[in-house]
Amino acid sequence: MTYSYQGNSYSISRYPKSDNKSLKAWSAADEHLLKYLSESTKDWQKPILYNDRFGFLSIFLSQHQTSVVVNFKSQEKALETNLKDNGLEANVVHRINPLDNQSNAHDLALIKVPKSLELFKSQLSQAHELLNDDGEIICAFMTKYFSPKIINIAKEYFEECHQSKAWKKSRLLVLKKKKKSPEKSEINTINFDGVKEFKQHPGVFSGKNIDYATQFLIEHLEVKATDNKILDLASGNGVLAHVALSKNPNAEVSLLDDSLLAIESSKMNLKSPNASFYFNDNLDNFENNTFDLVISNPPFHFDHETNIEIALSLFIDVKRCLKKGGVFQLVTSNHLNLKTHLYKLFHKVKIVAKNDKFVVYLCE
Ligand SMILES: C[S@@+](CC[C@H](N)C(=O)[O-])C[C@H]1O[C@@H](n2cnc3c(N)ncnc32)[C@H](O)[C@@H]1O
Repeated sequence: MTYSYQGNSYSISRYPKSDNKSLKAWSAADEHLLKYLSESTKDWQKPILYNDRFGFLSIFLSQHQTSVVVNFKSQEKALETNLKDNGLEANVVHRINPLDNQSNAHDLALIKVPKSLELFKSQLSQAHELLNDDGEIICAFMTKYFSPKIINIAKEYFEECHQSKAWKKSRLLVLKKKKKSPEKSEINTINFDGVKEFKQHPGVFSGKNIDYATQFLIEHLEVKATDNKILDLASGNGVLAHVALSKNPNAEVSLLDDSLLAIESSKMNLKSPNASFYFNDNLDNFENNTFDLVISNPPFHFDHETNIEIALSLFIDVKRCLKKGGVFQLVTSNHLNLKTHLYKLFHKVKIVAKNDKFVVYLCE
């Protein structure tokens, strides 16, 4: 898609590409941030960007010693492609790991407010530490996603919190004057089975509980003694891999997730030498015919978007990576009705369990 800005045209695309024309590589909230900065009289340098999913803001701010926090492997790939497509060097923006404690002082942080408000809080807490004393944070969101909690969280960290008028159905929140020593955002602890405690970084799937769909899959999960190589696909905090290993302690388990915070959380939860971790958004790390068993509660929701295409492309990868006779067990919401899609890829598709919300499939 082309975006025109100050007389120039830029080509900005989503990664992975989508056939769904309603899914865009930027929103009016991104444009609102650009408009605010271009109308400001300040010469902003060293901004730090949060949740710049496809690199839209990185492209326009690349001349300002910009840093971008990279949470997802797919985000890193989108950023690389879009910089290249617009004739920019890969290193014009500095990538930051969301868990790194940077000492660099920034003048400005731009936060596209994520759906997970605990992630928003942790990003605000980090940005608060990275900013100069007279630094500002500008948060942007589409008005339909507004919640008063956004303001309450912002006020924990800043004295001044000004909300803009709506523009193209988006709003900005301008935060100034850092509060002294506000509460730091903390790692979540989840009790599982009354025995195991799972730790996870704020923003990792299912917040402070084990998800109900995941629990339903766990109730019906079959792991055989001959399942030596197991993949937990879209592994989140690693709970499925943990259950699989407890059923077959000799298995080698691979955990793969697109989210760095998820992969780092799962490393805290699985200390077994039989577990290995992959930060990726597809199965390119694995050869054909690798796994006896793949287990998953696959992704269909990405921040405020719903998109079935990513899960379907992961299923094609699963088919390639399963050994002959290997099994894929997954749970999804009932209403997605995935059976037709799964039948296109697998010889046998069995419904192992179903309730009014979820369904567990076993595919061979
Ligand atoms: C429904 S959650 C399941 C997490 C975990 N297995 C559980 O049950 O709690 C889906 C996970 O998919 C991850 N994800 C999204 N896109 C992905 C992709 N392309 N490749 C791998 N993981 C992805 C998300 O980061 C999220 O952790």
